[in-house]
Amino acid sequence: MMEYDIALIKGDGIGPEVIGQAVRALDAVGAAYGHAFRYKELLAGGCAIDALGVPLPTETVAACKAADATLLGAVGGWKWDGLPGGARPEAALLGLRKELGLYANIRPALLFDALSDACPLKPELTAGGLDFVVVRELTGGIYFGERGVEDAGAMGKAAYDVERYSEAEVRRIGAVAFETARGRRGRLTSVDKANVLESSRLWRRVLTEMAAEYPDVELGHMYVDNAAMQLVRAPKQFDVIVTSNMFGDILSDEASMITGSIGMLPSASLGEGSYGMYEPIHGSAPDIAGQDKANPFAAILSAAMLLRHTLKLEREAAALEDAVRAALAEGYRTPDIYTEGTKLIGTAEAGERVAEAVARHIP
Ligand code: IPM
Ligand code: MG
Repeated sequence: MMEYDIALIKGDGIGPEVIGQAVRALDAVGAAYGHAFRYKELLAGGCAIDALGVPLPTETVAACKAADATLLGAVGGWKWDGLPGGARPEAALLGLRKELGLYANIRPALLFDALSDACPLKPELTAGGLDFVVVRELTGGIYFGERGVEDAGAMGKAAYDVERYSEAEVRRIGAVAFETARGRRGRLTSVDKANVLESSRLWRRVLTEMAAEYPDVELGHMYVDNAAMQLVRAPKQFDVIVTSNMFGDILSDEASMITGSIGMLPSASLGEGSYGMYEPIHGSAPDIAGQDKANPFAAILSAAMLLRHTLKLEREAAALEDAVRAALAEGYRTPDIYTEGTKLIGTAEAGERVAEAVARHIP
């Protein structure tokens, strides 16, 4: 039996609930295919601030590095909203991404057949399904640039955040994006604001230069405002989108909504090698925390990405994704994806349905 070490950061709000179900799903896969997953629970975010006074304890970073992969729920909440930047729960997430060198964030946007009713777009726009991937740069740009607050005389105070990208940073995320497109339908759309921003002009030039190394991939460029519009006007034109940290943050929320719900989108944050941190793209949703209302599918699908990318367990990853598909096809829906005629269930039952489907469908 193979044993794997997984660092678990349940985090805040609905984080513990959805991670609970992801663990249940992983254990069902382990039982079906003969693997053991060993979990180490770690604190980060608001819960770490409450327990230890810091959002990202050094032992959490060390334990994440020591594990094969990290599975994270969500961090943040109203309770900590008054804290200054570096002391906020979100600093834990940014710190983990940076410390673990996870510069590539892969956010697959897939509209499951059974969920076509939950998609807010007209059916003719999504006929035949939606399937694209957002590749978001994760350790650079305005999230990590110089920032500050200064006195601006008669204008009062002024605050600034700098968007800065080096050629090397663009090249390494570009390589991930070109490779991703190569393994899919071969279409890559780079999203920027090159009509205004110098950093975007550098981004666009580097991507354009790289295209020569990937003759099998068709590269296009799009301004971010147009991309936001095209995602709801004609989403099927997209295969792989590559973009900066902040544009990727924004566009991936939009992408999630057109695939039914933000509760459906998983993500993988990757660096060099097979290590990864896996998390649903949704936040901590403190308004529904602890009420068994959260959708655990994004967390479960993140666990599937962990199986595939880090552990190279392709069959097991596919089994988990099939189990989610089966639960949806059987009509089970958490409140965020509920439509008339389907069966409303809670967080725990959603996890149970997936675990059951895994056990039923062992190939
Ligand atoms: C995400 C989140 C985070 C981000 C927040 C919580 C810092 O929105 O992962 O998309 O902006 O990266
Ligand atoms: Mg976001």
